[in-house]
This record gives sequence, C-alpha cells and structure tokens, in this order.
Amino acid sequence: MRLLTTLTSFLSVASAASLGKRAPTPGSLSQVTSFGTAPTKAAFYIYVPKKLAESPGIVVAIHYCTGTAQAYYNNSPYKTLAEQYGFIVIYPSSPHSGTCWDVSSKATLSHDGGGDSHTIANMVKWTITEYKADTTKIFVTGTSSGAMMTNVLAATYPDLFQAGIAYSGVPAGCFMSTSSGIAAWNNSCANGQSTATPQKWAQVVLDMYPSYPATSPRPRMQIYHGSADATIRPQNYQETMKQWAGVFGYNYDKPESTKSNDPQSGYTRTIYGERAQGIYAQGVGHSVNIRGADDMKFFGFAT
Ligand SMILES: *[C@@H]1O[C@H](CO)[C@@H](O)[C@H](O)[C@H]1NC(C)=O
Repeated sequence: MRLLTTLTSFLSVASAASLGKRAPTPGSLSQVTSFGTAPTKAAFYIYVPKKLAESPGIVVAIHYCTGTAQAYYNNSPYKTLAEQYGFIVIYPSSPHSGTCWDVSSKATLSHDGGGDSHTIANMVKWTITEYKADTTKIFVTGTSSGAMMTNVLAATYPDLFQAGIAYSGVPAGCFMSTSSGIAAWNNSCANGQSTATPQKWAQVVLDMYPSYPATSPRPRMQIYHGSADATIRPQNYQETMKQWAGVFGYNYDKPESTKSNDPQSGYTRTIYGERAQGIYAQGVGHSVNIRGADDMKFFGFAT
C-alpha cells in the first residue's frame, strides 16, 4: 500500500515533468508557467486546496493596482475559504508597470481580443480541463483594479463565469482609452465624470462580445463601493449598477428592494433583480473590505 502510494505520487510528478510543467502543490500558492495561449504576460498563480472537491469550482481572485498574486493571496480570505469549500483559486498577476490591470485597451475589452482578459480566461479554461472543474461553478472577484477587471471579464466572457463580485471598481469599458493605451489610467472615469444611461452602459457590454446570443445567460453581479472613495469616485457605483441593470433589462430607477443596514450597519443593499445587486458602504473609502462569508453565499458555495 505504502509502495503503491509512493509509486503513484512518483508517477504523477514524472508525468507533469514530461509535459514540461511543475504540478501545482496542493495547499500552497504555485505558479503555472505553461497553460496554452497567453496573449499577454499576465502571470498565473493557483491555489489548489489540500481538500479539493470532486468536481471543484473555481474562483478567480484579482489584485488591486500595485498588487501581485502573492499579495492578494496573503490579503484576501479565498485560500482559507478554498480549504473550507474545496474550490480552486486562480490569482492572476498583472504584467504592467504600476501593476494595474489593462482595462483600457480595445484588446482587453473584447472577447478573445488578445488582452489581459483573454489571458485570464485561458487560465480558467486550463484549470477547468486540468482539474475537471464544474463549469457551473466558475466565479470572478477582485478589488479596485481587480474589480474593474471583474466587470470586464463578466462582459467579455459571459459564457465562462456564473457570477462576479466587484469591490470598488468601475463599469466595464469606463476606463476605455481613446488611444487604445494598455493599462492606461482614465481620470474622467475615476473622477466619476463618465456617466451614461443604463441602455448606453449595457451597449458597452454587448459590444465587447457582439456575437454572444442575446438569450444566453450572463453572470450574476454584486457590486460593492464606499461612499467616501476618493480614488474611484462613488459615482462609479451608480454607473456600474446602471450598466448591469441595463444588461439584464431591470429598471434602474425602480429597484426590486432597498434595505438599510444590510449586510452590516451603515451599508445599504439594493437589489435590481435576481442577477444584479449593489452594496453601498456609507463612510467607507477605497477599498471596501472583502466579505468572504457573504461571497460564498453569493457564489452558492454556502447557503
Ligand atoms: C476615458 O473613458 C471615457 C469613457 O468612460 C472615454 O470617453 C474617454 O475618452 C477616456 N479618456 C481617455 C483619455 O482615453
């Protein structure tokens, strides 16, 4: 029995080596260096829990500007939650100076357009194949620049993700650069001056993947933002809610429900419909703290 276990683990290492890659070590942050096509140099880090579920879900957890995969791994609750629920966490690491994500170029704002969103989607696809993941449990979340990328991924890969949670971001396409600059900062968006109707914001999403069928499902979205955010002005909360309400055909001006002190004192939860809700954090700046246990409920890992 002992010998068999030893032999089996020897063989799995040998087969990984023969494919020219190191097998990710369960229970530690590992880098995957070869995962098929990578149109940009975004690095792929993965956390496979020691207690991996049979057909595991995947959570893509995306770091903020100046961040790294390692930093987000350390400063977010997802590795702990992965052990609890058995899902895999993908931590992409931005390749850009200043290490904000590219949420501004035409390439990244297009389905299979060759930008960072495309590279991250390929990390997800590799993981689905490699770990026989449950394609009905693929989720994305992030903070600040990572929240912007969360909205971009929900818009460019609606076929891949079931839900997204964005902490302190901007609408998909709001950082769009007129010169197609890569990972460019956009002052008018950050300052809350890029405003549009729900229909216009929804069109921005539809234009990122024009051939995606109108009747096909899109990820459920939950958007957090602080009312005292001086980096990404809180108007971006309204604009992002307009965008997703517009995409799902909900009436932005008549939400289904608005509840104060939910999920905590000073926060207000507005539900626009089954697939879009926002949480506005009164007096909170940039960024809103991650609510890991609530994330698990929104993603459906917990009840
Ligand atoms: C910033 O984004 C807005 C859309 O939100 C766009 O209209 C504007 O041209 C962008 N600014 C630059 C400098 O690219």
